[in-house]
Amino acid sequence: MLDLENRRPTFVTRPGLPEIGDVLPYLERIWSSRVLTNGGPLAQELTVALQDYLGVAHLSLVSNCTSGCIAALRGLKVKGQVITSPFSFVATANSIVLAGAEPVFADIDPVSLNLDPEQVERHLTSDTAAIMPVHSFGNPCDHAALEEIANRRGIPLIYDAAHAFGVKSNGQSLTNLGTCSVVSFHATKVFNTFEGGAVITHDEQSKAAVERLINHGIEHETSVPEIGLNGKMSELHAAVGLAQLPYVDEIINQRMMIANKYSARLSGTQGVHLVQPSPDVRYNYYMFPILLDTTYPLSRDELCATMEAEGIFPRRYFFPLVSDLPSFQHHSSAEPSNLPEARRVANSIVCLPIYPDLPSVVQDRIIEIVLSPTR
Ligand SMILES: Cc1ncc(COP(=O)(O)O)c(C=O)c1O
Repeated sequence: MLDLENRRPTFVTRPGLPEIGDVLPYLERIWSSRVLTNGGPLAQELTVALQDYLGVAHLSLVSNCTSGCIAALRGLKVKGQVITSPFSFVATANSIVLAGAEPVFADIDPVSLNLDPEQVERHLTSDTAAIMPVHSFGNPCDHAALEEIANRRGIPLIYDAAHAFGVKSNGQSLTNLGTCSVVSFHATKVFNTFEGGAVITHDEQSKAAVERLINHGIEHETSVPEIGLNGKMSELHAAVGLAQLPYVDEIINQRMMIANKYSARLSGTQGVHLVQPSPDVRYNYYMFPILLDTTYPLSRDELCATMEAEGIFPRRYFFPLVSDLPSFQHHSSAEPSNLPEARRVANSIVCLPIYPDLPSVVQDRIIEIVLSPTR
């Protein structure tokens, strides 16, 4: 048992912050320039720094990943059905609807937890306008198979890469894949700007289309050819990003050490399955999900309750399935028989706390609880 009196609660994550002294020079620049938003100098500087860090050529900063997904779908003129994963945060399907399209849920692969290309294939219709997969917890999708389907059908492949910051597969940034990729810089993410995100495209024209859409559809002062939204990143958020970016590799390394300790101590535990890392992937260790099967002594919810009694709050990501939410359950693809793997995963998964300053004594206790939950 941990000493609860003297300890703050442990949540699944704890936002990383740069040293406040690292932010102040940027704030001074904002105060002296009086440029607060609309693609100001700090946003431009962060754009270049992120393009360099991620190894991408065309990056547009946005106010959050959700507005980025809406702009990406709208920029590609996606109308009709978008095949996506039910095993995601609700923002994925919300953005499809808010962009004026219709989500179609296809089942996931139980090992990668990502859209299963064979299931995508099954849901293709003459109305399919795009595929929008999610790299769940930064675990790469089967890009080759998804790209083959998208190319064959001549439709865009738009990655919800909210979790994928800094992940590389075969040396290539995951954010460089697909017709475009959208990343989140939300407070809970590996790299955060409090709120924020980026859309990564592959040419100047697509980048300009996204940037017009996140600026109300304005082309220039007297020309507003389409309806847009306000999805711009402010200078304050860009300042946090610039101060944060130099720490990100260290943050990923610290997360890796915590993940390695979980893996070493928990692998082989009866009834507990780890999401298997692939040797050609440089992960960001955004989450540490475990899946429990029926041979584990407790149900997933009982395990969570046991931890919560000690002030430790793991998260049941992603539960419930998006397709079970009231806004989506009427879709024919939300039918439970269509999504057996996603349902099984959603009912058995729990993400254990992982963040750079997770105290070692707390991680030890989490491991002890998972190993001996009834003691
Ligand atoms: C898979 C996924 N997509 C989209 C989002 C939305 O990101 P944001 O909060 O930056 O809009 C999240 C947020 O955590 C997410 O997990």
